[in-house]
Amino acid sequence: MEELIQIEGVAKSYGAYRVHEDLTLSIHKGECFTLLGPSGCGKTVLLRLIAGFEFPDAGVIRIGGVVVSDPAVRVNLPPDSRRLGMVFQDYAVWPHMTVFDNVAYPLKLMKKTRQELTDRVMETVEMVGMKGLEKRVPSELSGGQQQRVALARALIAKPSLLLLDEPLTNLDANLREEMRFEIKELQRKLETTVLYVTHDQEVALAISDRLAVMDERGKIRQMGTPWEIFERPADPFVFNFMGVANFLPVRNEEGKYLVGNGSQSIPWEKPEGSAKDWAAAFRPSDVKIGRSGEGLRGAVRRASFLGAMMDYLVDVDGASLRVSAETHEAIGLMFEEGEDCVVSFRELHWFEAEKLREALTANAHNNEGVRV
Ligand SMILES: Nc1ncnc2c1ncn2[C@@H]1O[C@H](COP(=O)(O)OP(=O)(O)O)[C@@H](O)[C@H]1O
Ligand SMILES: [Mg+2]
Repeated sequence: MEELIQIEGVAKSYGAYRVHEDLTLSIHKGECFTLLGPSGCGKTVLLRLIAGFEFPDAGVIRIGGVVVSDPAVRVNLPPDSRRLGMVFQDYAVWPHMTVFDNVAYPLKLMKKTRQELTDRVMETVEMVGMKGLEKRVPSELSGGQQQRVALARALIAKPSLLLLDEPLTNLDANLREEMRFEIKELQRKLETTVLYVTHDQEVALAISDRLAVMDERGKIRQMGTPWEIFERPADPFVFNFMGVANFLPVRNEEGKYLVGNGSQSIPWEKPEGSAKDWAAAFRPSDVKIGRSGEGLRGAVRRASFLGAMMDYLVDVDGASLRVSAETHEAIGLMFEEGEDCVVSFRELHWFEAEKLREALTANAHNNEGVRV
């Protein structure tokens, strides 16, 4: 696999504040790679380092095998020699220029003939779905359209690498969903390499060939395909970051795995390892809720009808669990607040309680439903 970007041992501080420390990461040519992490973890700083707007304190950055930053030998290629396109979160289009001029701008710096320039602009404008709007200025466009202009401007010089910094964050939910498929399709069609950064795990799962999950301290916790990250989380931080997470405290007492503060023991797969305190982790959709059968006995504390889904909060020996059930499948099996129930699990991930504590202090984000 050919590597387009190689980041080796990169460090970057602002004064005493260390954003990145010994960061190592490679991105394959032609892939759509996402760096996913909470706000403030250093995603934008990393893109600016790659683009050449910032200079690392230590480490080496290579693009296409060429060293573009290496403080040890004082190499620092300027941004315009790095052959990359970049789109920022706040649509950085020039408000006084038309769509045509905004998109044409990078080519004007390259001294193309007028015909060549017009052809390329029209082709690129069409590619991002903006044909017919070339004469408008940004104030006559929606947020989504402005973001398409920024995308066209980043693509027009046919960069080998496209850096996208949360380009969909300021768009409404429907448009965000639509645009992420479009970005993915463009990436496939143009066969460019994309490095996408976001704090939104749904976008990351939808568009990536591979992704890396970064914690608040800028440390990469796991790298892999969307399936690997979602189904085989390396640690509780990753599990928690990828969606609504339940962590059920489980205590090993002489070989019995007891739940919460009670005496019910987990009848299913047991964790591997000698720790005494564990957390059994699962998503609301991993739980089956019923009135009888094998499982843990509990009581429904809250029942919310969400249309397609029922959302329950279930108490099991002092532990609160978020449980979801498909409304269509739950007919005849609807629970009301205060009713007794039995829960069992389609899938469980075991984490040592110690690691869970560490992960939850590293990430206060996205932990609704977590009760430890
Ligand atoms: N030019 C700067 N000077 C000082 N601190 C900065 C600068 N740029 C970024 N930071 C700090 O670095 C950290 C990471 O920022 P950033 O990369 O923007 O996070 P995000 O992952 O949300 O994009 C933040 O704490 C931010 O305040
Ligand atoms: Mg940012």
